[in-house]
Amino acid sequence: MRSPADGGSGTGRDMTASPAAAPAESAADLFSLRGRRALITGSGQGIGLTLARGLAAAGAELVLNDLEPERLEAAMAGLRAEGFTVSGRCFNVAREDEVAAATRELAAQVGPIDILVNNAGIHRRAPLESMPLEAWQAVLDVNLTSAFLVTRAIVPEMIRRGRGKIINLCSLNSEISRPTIGNYAAAKGGLKMLTRAMAVEWARHNIQANALAPGYIRTALTGPLTVDPAFNHHLCTRTPAGRWGEPHELVGTTVFLASRASDFMNGQILFVDGGLLAAL
Ligand SMILES: NC(=O)c1ccc[n+]([C@@H]2O[C@H](COP(=O)([O-])OP(=O)(O)OC[C@H]3O[C@@H](n4cnc5c(N)ncnc54)[C@H](O)[C@@H]3O)[C@@H](O)[C@H]2O)c1
Repeated sequence: MRSPADGGSGTGRDMTASPAAAPAESAADLFSLRGRRALITGSGQGIGLTLARGLAAAGAELVLNDLEPERLEAAMAGLRAEGFTVSGRCFNVAREDEVAAATRELAAQVGPIDILVNNAGIHRRAPLESMPLEAWQAVLDVNLTSAFLVTRAIVPEMIRRGRGKIINLCSLNSEISRPTIGNYAAAKGGLKMLTRAMAVEWARHNIQANALAPGYIRTALTGPLTVDPAFNHHLCTRTPAGRWGEPHELVGTTVFLASRASDFMNGQILFVDGGLLAAL
């Protein structure tokens, strides 16, 4: 490992010289999550469950969360049957009181969280001009405010321990919108800036906050779109890859963002979208 003095100024070193090479390290070590504990919100199904499995396969101990107790139990049982170390808590990530109680209990009974994946999210589709306030507020609460609430509860211990990884589930809709999802686009756009705000405030504590922004991924959330032939045609011609993505295609980026391999990356939004955002 290089010490800070290796690359620092004022050491009398010739700054035009090449820095001393860091010792070679295997990719397996660099990306290993052994000895790390990950909390993944909304991980009873879909992307959250797949990311949880991927983090566990890289060595992490898991703490699952979901609003639906049966879904959560089934996910925990499935992952345990695969040989992974899993605990879980059923709570609503958008409720301040529930987040506070659950994270307090987790800290006492399970231990500190090294990796937080703010994944829980919902849709309430409606044209903006007729969108009920309830649909606006629910989507803002679950997709944006929840990341603030859960992270605010977890991060003091990360600061105390001098390390932590925060991964927020952004979206193509952090950058671009389409009709009927104005609430979701506002929430995911806000989450992009919350990610950057987290990075700015906590980088000095060796905490990295980055976002994974998936393109269109086949899950229950996108179910209404996957069965719509007109949307399918639009998506597959609009996306350079010519197809939907699958949840497992997000695992590599997540393991990267959770591991030491991303220790100097902060406040970034990584789009995993088959090239959609790059194309007109
Ligand atoms: N599927 C996609 O194409 C896509 C694309 C971009 C971003 N995303 C984001 O990825 C994340 C996961 O999406 P998904 O497609 O797996 O959705 P999903 O509906 O399949 O799963 C979401 C899970 O979150 C849980 N949940 C919902 N509200 C909750 C709450 N208040 N507290 C705790 N848990 C709650 C649900 O019960 C469910 O199990 C979301 O943030 C979503 O916005 C999805």
